[in-house]
Amino acid sequence: MEIEIVTMNESHVDSVWEIEKALIASPWSKESIQKLTTTDNAVAKVSTIDGKAMGYYSFYQILDEADVNNIAVDSAWQNKGVGSALMHDMIEECKLRGIASITLEVGANNIVAQKLYEKFGFRQEGLRKKYYNNTEDAIIMWRR
Ligand SMILES: CC(C)(COP(=O)(O)OP(=O)(O)OC[C@H]1O[C@@H](n2cnc3c(N)ncnc32)[C@H](O)[C@@H]1OP(=O)(O)O)[C@@H](O)C(=O)NCCC(=O)NCCS
Repeated sequence: MEIEIVTMNESHVDSVWEIEKALIASPWSKESIQKLTTTDNAVAKVSTIDGKAMGYYSFYQILDEADVNNIAVDSAWQNKGVGSALMHDMIEECKLRGIASITLEVGANNIVAQKLYEKFGFRQEGLRKKYYNNTEDAIIMWRR
């Protein structure tokens, strides 16, 4: 068994879309995920096991800032360090690209994800009220 983190390509899109649908309340369309593989300022990477994607992250680079779209790990692979490995990889990618600050939004009820981001140096800087489905608040976090 070998876990690798590689750039997302066309062959990963279906698996990523399955994870997205299973785990994200307002999932991206398959087309939007596919577009990440061809958009110049998008960075999308997957964690794979025997070549199949079981986790991913993506962000858009805007000058020296990164705006994270999502990070998710297939339920069967959670709590085994994959999410942390993806976060570590994301931060390294940002360093390579000269990105000084990274921002993301996370559901106020999503304690596991908030803890993960805090572990990697993200801090809460704002709140969007009822951002998700007009009910759950979004916490805005930055790593500077
Ligand atoms: C957030 C997520 C990506 C973390 O992935 P993961 O592979 O489980 O992450 P790790 O195994 O590296 O665990 C990270 C930390 O969370 C903790 N954790 C993971 N799953 C947990 C669970 N079910 N209950 C409690 N703690 C948990 C781990 O113990 C670890 O803490 P530590 O660093 O103090 O040891 C994953 O839970 C996920 O895909 N969630 C659904 C999608 C989502 O909410 N994404 C974020 C959107 S903003």
